[in-house]
Amino acid sequence: MTAPSTARQSLSGRVALVTGASRGIGRAIAVRLAAHGASLVATSSARSAEALEGVCAEIAAQGGQAATVIADLADAEARADLVARASSYFGAVDILVNNAAAMPEFAPPSRMSLAGRQQLFAINLDAPLDLCQQALPAMRSNGWGRILNISSDTVRQPPVPYPASADMVHALAVYGASKAALERVTQGLAAELHGSGVQVNALAPSRIARTESAERIATEMAKTHPEWVESVETMAEAAYQLIAGPSTGLCISSRALLQQWQAPLRALDGHTVLGDCMTPGVA
Ligand SMILES: NC(=O)c1ccc[n+]([C@@H]2O[C@H](COP(=O)([O-])OP(=O)(O)OC[C@H]3O[C@@H](n4cnc5c(N)ncnc54)[C@H](OP(=O)(O)O)[C@@H]3O)[C@@H](O)[C@H]2O)c1
Repeated sequence: MTAPSTARQSLSGRVALVTGASRGIGRAIAVRLAAHGASLVATSSARSAEALEGVCAEIAAQGGQAATVIADLADAEARADLVARASSYFGAVDILVNNAAAMPEFAPPSRMSLAGRQQLFAINLDAPLDLCQQALPAMRSNGWGRILNISSDTVRQPPVPYPASADMVHALAVYGASKAALERVTQGLAAELHGSGVQVNALAPSRIARTESAERIATEMAKTHPEWVESVETMAEAAYQLIAGPSTGLCISSRALLQQWQAPLRALDGHTVLGDCMTPGVA
């Protein structure tokens, strides 16, 4: 199935807010959306304020416009006015990409502390839903909005033999639970908003995307299964396709989407074709 009219939709005039935009998948999606004309508000915590400024400079160098907003998403008060602050730059947020996530404690479900679980769910579930609630009034009144929640293959327990070490797989269980909850919220919100012009989808790397934080495991996996590693460009392409496309309520992996929609894989400039969905992310 080819996605109708998604090939090169312009996002000119749209305002996008991307969380966790200082590096990795968030940076790639931010740069890619800006390449299609969206005005970008990039956000992260103060920890990566400098890197976030770098992403804005990269977008400006490409002829786009971008601004930064700093907030710790683990802190309900600090994130309470995030969309309002973002909207002060280029107008109301039309596109919300809930990309930021964290795994504050590396522990299996049998041992993860309550504080660790609370922080994990605050960043991975409560923050995305809070931002949706903040952005929705303007999206609804404009009759157009796109919410993209970044999920993970860890929503499912992997079959044996595990793709990584058993310790790693067990430590990802609670994190996977937070992403499973995010997918359920995605589908519920999509159903609630059906017909409003606001589309809500979730997108996950097929297995692992080569980012700074996933570098160690990506390198490990690439030794035996190079096809399990994808580039951040793959996620950025799929994110763009979902945002420009007609679907709502999808929870899908990047490669499945690009394959089903027969979309090419392009660089972050939105033009240069790099290959197809199976183009590896092995550096
Ligand atoms: N890489 C993969 O293979 C992979 C696989 C499955 C799913 N994913 C999902 O893809 C998304 C991005 O992954 P990634 O590897 O690119 O992540 P990453 O490199 O760890 O980057 C995470 C981003 O989120 C921000 N962030 C984290 N905690 C925050 C907080 N409390 N407040 C504000 N910002 C915060 C970080 O900024 P700070 O430095 O300011 O904290 C950073 O910009 C995540 O949702 C992740 O679950 C990734």
